[in-house]
Amino acid sequence: MTRRMLVAGNWKMNGNRAAMAEVQAIAAIAAAQPAVDVAICPPFTLIEAAATAAGAMPIGGQDCHAADKGAHTGCISAPMLKEAGARLAIVGHSERRADQHETSTEVRAKAEAAIRHGLMAIVCVGETEAERDAGKTLDVVGAQLDGSVPAGANAAELVIAYEPVWAIGTGRTPSVDDVGEVHAFIRARLRALLGGEGEGVRILYGGSVKAENAAELLGVADVDGALVGGASLTAAQFGPIIEAAAKISS
Ligand code: PGA
Repeated sequence: MTRRMLVAGNWKMNGNRAAMAEVQAIAAIAAAQPAVDVAICPPFTLIEAAATAAGAMPIGGQDCHAADKGAHTGCISAPMLKEAGARLAIVGHSERRADQHETSTEVRAKAEAAIRHGLMAIVCVGETEAERDAGKTLDVVGAQLDGSVPAGANAAELVIAYEPVWAIGTGRTPSVDDVGEVHAFIRARLRALLGGEGEGVRILYGGSVKAENAAELLGVADVDGALVGGASLTAAQFGPIIEAAAKISS
């Protein structure tokens, strides 16, 4: 089974209108690497401008509410994302699981809402440092998958991102053996949850991916791309990661 690599940028609460020049520059790099899928998820306020700047490159949201509309102050729904020009949504990022106390049940409902409205959902999972030290990584990731993966999802509409919480924004990454172990575990769990479709679902690695370590991490079996935070903010840093994915895909 060949899966197209996906390199997605998560801008978190960063960026402004001036950064649309970076979106354009990233889109140009992406256009030169047709074997790889590339996407950027900027803050909600920039989605419309980014979708215009990006041309063919997909733009996504960093969250979406499970409901289509209603009394949910400060939240954004999947149809709103869609109307703004988004084509995907990250759900269940560890920063939201921690800061907004999102449970896997809520994350699944958000992923279902995204998919229902034609957005590809990137569902994030990953263990904390304490959980890894306690030898609970696979238990934690397995429980998050069981709780967060929508039943019956297909490989075109669902992506999983494995992001060890302790590797996000820290400059630390797991060893390639540890990444391989977790990704193989996720693949097996996706097969159990989704049958044959689980074979095609892409599993991204995220957490301190940079130009310097991208080739090594993307070369691990069952790593089908990367979810990149800090290093996705500029074309100068994100470009080499896209190119590393393209090299592996060729
Ligand atoms: P980082 O963030 O690349 O800055 O570590 C990754 C993420 O949180 O998606």
